[in-house]
Amino acid sequence: MSETSKFLLADSQIPTAWVNVLPSLPEPLAPPLNPQTHAPLGPEDLAAIFPMELIEQEFSPQRLIDIPGEVMDIYRLWRATPLFRARRLEKALDTPAHIYYKYEGTSPAGSHKPNTAVAQAYYNKRAGIRRLATETGAGQWGSALSLACRMFGLECTVYMVRISYDQKPYRRMMMHAWGAEVFPSPSDQTNSGRAVLAESPDSPGSLGIAISEAVEDAATHPDTNYALGSVLNHVMLHQTVIGQEAKLQMAMAGEDPEVVIGCFGGGSNFGGLALPYVLDRLAGKGPRILAVEPSACPSLTKGTFAYDYGDTAKLTPLIKMYTLGHDFVPPGIHAGGLRYHGASPLLSHLLGLGHIEAKAYPQTPVFEAALQFARTEGILPAPESSHAIRAAVDEALAAREEGRSKVILFCLSGHGHFDLGAYENYLSGKLLDYEYPGRDISLALASN
Ligand SMILES: Cc1ncc(COP(=O)(O)O)c(C=O)c1O
Repeated sequence: MSETSKFLLADSQIPTAWVNVLPSLPEPLAPPLNPQTHAPLGPEDLAAIFPMELIEQEFSPQRLIDIPGEVMDIYRLWRATPLFRARRLEKALDTPAHIYYKYEGTSPAGSHKPNTAVAQAYYNKRAGIRRLATETGAGQWGSALSLACRMFGLECTVYMVRISYDQKPYRRMMMHAWGAEVFPSPSDQTNSGRAVLAESPDSPGSLGIAISEAVEDAATHPDTNYALGSVLNHVMLHQTVIGQEAKLQMAMAGEDPEVVIGCFGGGSNFGGLALPYVLDRLAGKGPRILAVEPSACPSLTKGTFAYDYGDTAKLTPLIKMYTLGHDFVPPGIHAGGLRYHGASPLLSHLLGLGHIEAKAYPQTPVFEAALQFARTEGILPAPESSHAIRAAVDEALAAREEGRSKVILFCLSGHGHFDLGAYENYLSGKLLDYEYPGRDISLALASN
């Protein structure tokens, strides 16, 4: 075994097609439902806010979907991303496990989010759209879409969850630098925002509320579409470049993962890394696949698998997913990108079928692992990504207890350079842990 710790691909090895898992599923996904009639949704129902080429991808029966040349040109600015073996972390843990991580923080926006932002901006531009509206939790998705819109000459409006808007002013400025306009959500720009403000003027906001605002903005302006940074099938599809590259890089390392890990907000970095491995599982052999979420917002581990809205104001289609209820406002943890009440319907389905496992952690042990990682591997990870680090460390410690080797692969979805306020809180002992308050999810679902 060489001492190599960095596995790099040439530009010619960047994937040229996205991998679609939908045609390989043993049972089809439950269809999304029209929010008014509750009838299964047709492509035309989505046409008010999405371009047709993305709608087709949402339901596509094709196994591989070619990545357009203009998208490839932009991917080549930072892809392929590196795969590292965390030798220094392994040593610190004194574990026989081999820990690998796929680092998506080398993109201009600092996370995996541009993989889909660039594709979405491209298809919207082709459809003649002038402006995109979106929400952002951590600020990573808003930054990614601001960047992508700039690359294709589109305007961009971002509704940024209030608590992140306050916690992360420099994320906001990054979006401004790329030319986007940014409103704290709930905002006074939309009916949905004004309704929340009337009830709770100090609302910290949530992704569910910010999605309502962005969808309303898009639906009420004919030249504007909506872009979602996670959850939907076409987003998972675009992110499969991560797992395809990781497979080539693991082959360079001469190892196969026994477990593949990703943090889970709506599911896009996790799905991006895991879905190419899910195909192996569906074909009869593949690794364990583990999604990691915050205990304060545990949709996969404490949620209900049911039809629910993707947003607070019930403007989106009803989708069958693991959910805590569309009106759930999670506590203001620092992993803002993981504060979402629902989950990707595709990944929910795979969890239901037993191909995926899920685990939840409070934020203090997550930051403890983040610092151990920063102090050994050097990279200061995003709080979201640090959930995956925590789980990878625990898998490695379990291997030490069992006295056996184990190959672990996780997605380091982004860097934490705009999350220093969170690190400051942790280092000064001010970080609070919130358990999921528990609530009657059935009530929130009954209000459908
Ligand atoms: C760095 C990072 N990782 C993960 C996530 C969670 O999103 P997803 O579950 O779609 O990957 C976010 C969301 O903003 C993020 O910024």
